[in-house]
Amino acid sequence: MAGQVKISGAKNSALVIIAGALLCPQDCRIRNVPSLVDVARMGQLLSSLGVKISQHGDVLDIDASDLSTSQAPYEIVSQLRASFFTIGPLLARQGYAQVPLPGGCTIGARPVDLHVRGLQAMGADVQIEHGMVNAYVAGSSRRLKGAKIYLDYPSVGATETLMMAATLAEGETVIENAAQEPEVVDLANFCNSMGARIRGAGTTAITISGVPRLHSTDYAIIPDRVEAATFLVAGAITNSEISLAPVIPDHLTPAIAKLQEIGVQIVADAPDCLRIVPGEGLRGTDIKTLPYPGFPTDMQAQFMALLSLSEGDSVITETVFENRLRHVAELNRMGADIRVEGNIAVVRGVPLLSGAPVVASDLRASAALVLAGLAAKGKTTIQGLHHLDRGYEKLEVKLLSLGARLQRVTGAIVSPERQLGVNNPTVNSYQ
Ligand code: EPU
Repeated sequence: MAGQVKISGAKNSALVIIAGALLCPQDCRIRNVPSLVDVARMGQLLSSLGVKISQHGDVLDIDASDLSTSQAPYEIVSQLRASFFTIGPLLARQGYAQVPLPGGCTIGARPVDLHVRGLQAMGADVQIEHGMVNAYVAGSSRRLKGAKIYLDYPSVGATETLMMAATLAEGETVIENAAQEPEVVDLANFCNSMGARIRGAGTTAITISGVPRLHSTDYAIIPDRVEAATFLVAGAITNSEISLAPVIPDHLTPAIAKLQEIGVQIVADAPDCLRIVPGEGLRGTDIKTLPYPGFPTDMQAQFMALLSLSEGDSVITETVFENRLRHVAELNRMGADIRVEGNIAVVRGVPLLSGAPVVASDLRASAALVLAGLAAKGKTTIQGLHHLDRGYEKLEVKLLSLGARLQRVTGAIVSPERQLGVNNPTVNSYQ
């Protein structure tokens, strides 16, 4: 493989920024929105609240001037955890919100206690009954009150919920031990572009001075750092030179540092363009996932695929989610040598992986299996592509443009196609 890839807008920025548009009683234009199943679901959720949405390519126009309800429908929330983000903006703007509890998913239980406790600290009355979170603000102004909130853990979602809620609150809110992820900063910049007063996003203390009302905006979201890092690993695992643009290299520092330890060179050809220069003889290394600026949990599975083909032992410790090692069994089916104890995976490098039918357990696991399949000898068939489609825009189209050999059949990706012809009916038997 070789060539250039265009990196799409960040999924995790897009999801929360679309929810954040609920704060605004005027038009919002959001640019660089990736075309993803999750983003479409967030759009459906806003439509169900009475919001007018129109999409032209990667531009989304959102008019939330009239909200017909503050109750998010369970059918959508149950398919998209990020739907819970609507609670902060709805409560801040309307004084009440009813959002179903999102529940867990395959990577962990994912409670929302930090979101709820923070909203309570800002004066909301929050009751959880029959799986529904009912939140109200008492008083004639129905405005939340600024508060000093310390998060027990720097949760990305809780930081974002509370930051959005605080934009329209009376007085000043300080979020301590806040998440520092680039998507938090993107949301703060989006809110500030609508007239919010948020300082300190990207540090551990965020201060929000509430304003009575926000105004319309035209805002472009940042490039997706996880998609970019996934392509860097694709280059490393297939020994291919790949250029990526646009990227914000600072957002990729933890992934780049690990790739360099593994023996791959990353060159900046322009301020927003990185190129991976593959190296001979990849070496194992240890990885511990942590909140930003630590190594991202969203890249753990992809690096595990790479380390399974790197010489020596690597220890991967997953600290963010309690059940995010389910790809290990699938990588082992392809010939990897990985043992798991609790939240630690010990990867013993093997000289080659062999293609096999595998099943993706979550979004990033599906990307890891695609990468492993590209590097493996023989045909790999990956089922569970609904996970992939939630978070990677046209992954197989982008890989094909680099010369990868893979094909989507309904519900599965097959790679590489040279082992069985693309039209071979046995390929379709994995649908
Ligand atoms: N947590 C709590 N209580 C809370 C909130 C979080 O205990 O109230 C725990 C979680 O259970 C988890 C840890 O804190 O163990 C981290 O969760 P966090 O809230 O930081 O994550 P999130 O907001 O649910 C976002 C991304 C994830 C990404 C994480 C960590 C979105 C829509 N999702 O989730 O993205 O892994 O931050 O960086 O922004 C993905 O894209 O594949 C993905 C899972």
